[in-house]
Amino acid sequence: MHTSVLLEESIKYLNLKDDSIVIDCTLGYGGHSSKILKIIKNGYLYAFDQDEEAIENADKKLKEIGTNYKIIDKNFKNIEEVNQKVDAILFDLGVSSPQLDEDYRGFSYHKDSKLDMRMDRRQKLDAYEVVNTYPLEKLIKIFKEYGEEKYSVSIAKAIIKARPIETTLELSEIIKNNVPEKYRKKSHPARKIFQAIRIEVNDELNVFEKALKKALKMLNKNGRIAVITFHSLEDKICKKIFKEVSSVPRELQNLPVIPDEYKPKYKIIANIKPTDKEIGDNKRARSSRLRVIEKE
Ligand SMILES: C[S@@+](CC[C@H](N)C(=O)[O-])C[C@H]1O[C@@H](n2cnc3c(N)ncnc32)[C@H](O)[C@@H]1O
Repeated sequence: MHTSVLLEESIKYLNLKDDSIVIDCTLGYGGHSSKILKIIKNGYLYAFDQDEEAIENADKKLKEIGTNYKIIDKNFKNIEEVNQKVDAILFDLGVSSPQLDEDYRGFSYHKDSKLDMRMDRRQKLDAYEVVNTYPLEKLIKIFKEYGEEKYSVSIAKAIIKARPIETTLELSEIIKNNVPEKYRKKSHPARKIFQAIRIEVNDELNVFEKALKKALKMLNKNGRIAVITFHSLEDKICKKIFKEVSSVPRELQNLPVIPDEYKPKYKIIANIKPTDKEIGDNKRARSSRLRVIEKE
């Protein structure tokens, strides 16, 4: 079961009308898309996902609500394939709870499974290949950049020494044995390294950055984009891009009159965190944040 995060807030801020054209970039188990479809009775929904199980499940739910939708079984980096301007776009990033919970997907350091972590199981690169073939320098780089792990060097060296590493729990054990005792007590010692490997396998940050820039160009006047992120790396990308497109370039800020072509075409609408209640009810919401922008 997947409990959608910041569901009511994101739907409210998308400002949907009866005839809105919407893209849900991350269909997942259809929590957001179901709500959207109930509102846009005379509109249309395009929904991306690259996980066949999620798509099958969500399709069943959406069918019961309406027929005015199309599921696109692709990475949302192909967002321009929608090929029309739209009124609202949603990104609810990361993996869904079923992806985390299924033993065989290899995302979780709590369950023993083959190293995998592919959201799109048609792709070749998986966690096994990253862990067992990447050279030391490349492992250190991804652990530092994508995991912000301060023991990246010792963990990467230990991984190389222990190869071949077959399963998630083997990897988790190696990580645990190569960080100081007191560090293990803070949070699970494998959390950051698993995050880094997942981001590398799915190229998550590059894909999001490119897709968000394309999405901004696809909005109608008064159209909105809502982004739900789950860690600071994703949030930094969103914050930077939203700031760039909603502000006057720094070198022109002192001009008495800003020329029209430099006036921002977007305005920031919201930047919110989940309530304590939502965090209490759903642990996944803990690090989430919703940012919303509007095309003027
Ligand atoms: C957090 S879940 C979305 C949950 C959904 N909003 C709901 O309420 O049920 C994220 C989903 O997006 C998908 N996803 C993540 N990155 C993607 C990408 N680059 N392209 C397509 N789908 C992606 C994942 O497979 C997963 O099913």
